[in-house]
Amino acid sequence: MYAPACRLRPLGSADFDRILELERVLFGAGAWTYGMLADELAALGRWYVVAEPAGPDAVAIYGPGPKPVVGYAGLWFDGDVAQIMTIGVDPHYQRHGVGRELLHALLERSRTLRASAVLLEVRVDNDAALALYEKAGFERIGLRRRYYQPEDVDAFTMRLDLAAARPGADGATEGPAGDGGPGDEGPSGDDPSGGGPSGGDPDRPVGDAA
Ligand SMILES: CC(C)(COP(=O)(O)OP(=O)(O)OC[C@H]1O[C@@H](n2cnc3c(N)ncnc32)[C@H](O)[C@@H]1OP(=O)(O)O)[C@@H](O)C(=O)NCCC(=O)NCCS
Repeated sequence: MYAPACRLRPLGSADFDRILELERVLFGAGAWTYGMLADELAALGRWYVVAEPAGPDAVAIYGPGPKPVVGYAGLWFDGDVAQIMTIGVDPHYQRHGVGRELLHALLERSRTLRASAVLLEVRVDNDAALALYEKAGFERIGLRRRYYQPEDVDAFTMRLDLAAARPGADGATEGPAGDGGPGDEGPSGDDPSGGGPSGGDPDRPVGDAA
C-alpha cells in the first residue's frame, strides 16, 4: 500500500481554514465553527497537532513550499486524565497510518503529562475509529445514550489506563507519518494544569463523525 510520509507539528491559527474545511468533510452537521475551534484551542489544557505530508513524495506532489494539512488531533488534560477531543484525517489520506500516528502523539503527550488514563467518546457506528482505538488498547467502559445530537446516536466511552499500558502499546511504529514530532510548545495551548472551562463535556468530543 502506498504510505505517504507525514510529519506532525503544533496546530496554529494559520491552519484554521484548512481544519474547518476538514471538519465539514469529516463531521458534517457536527463540524466545529470558527468560533468553536478558536474557543477550543484557547481553553486550558489543550494540546493539538496537525499532520502534513513530508519527504520526497510530498515535494514531488506539492513542490518545495508549504504542504496541506491532512490530519489533526487534540486532547484536553485536566490535571488527572486526558480526554481525546478529536482526530480527523483527510479522506484521501485515510488508511495510510496517519490516524495511528496522530493517536500515538496524543498518547505520548498524555504520558508526558503523567495522565492516569486517556478517555474518549466515539459513535457506536464509527467502525474505523473503534478499530483504531481498540488496536491501541482502549476498552469500552460505558454507553452514553443519544450522546450525539441531532443525529440521535449513542456513544461508547472508551478508556486507556496509562498506568497499566506498556510503552508503545498504542501500536505506532516507525511509520510513514512519524518522521517529525510536534514538540512541546505550540500555539494550540500547552498548559497542562488547568481544568476545562466547565469540567463537563467538551463542545464536540471526538466521535461526532457523520
Ligand atoms: C478514524 C480515522 C481518524 C482513522 O484515520 P486513518 O488515518 O485512516 O487510520 P490509520 O490508517 O492510521 O489506521 C489505523 C488502524 O485503524 C483501523 N482503521 C482505520 N480505518 C479503518 C476503517 N475504515 N475500517 C476498519 N478499520 C479501520 C485499522 O485497525 C487500522 O490499522 P490497519 O491499517 O493496520 O488495519 C479516520 O477514519 C477519520 O478521520 N474518520 C473521520 C473522522 C472520525 O470519525 N474521527 C474519529 C472520531 S472518534
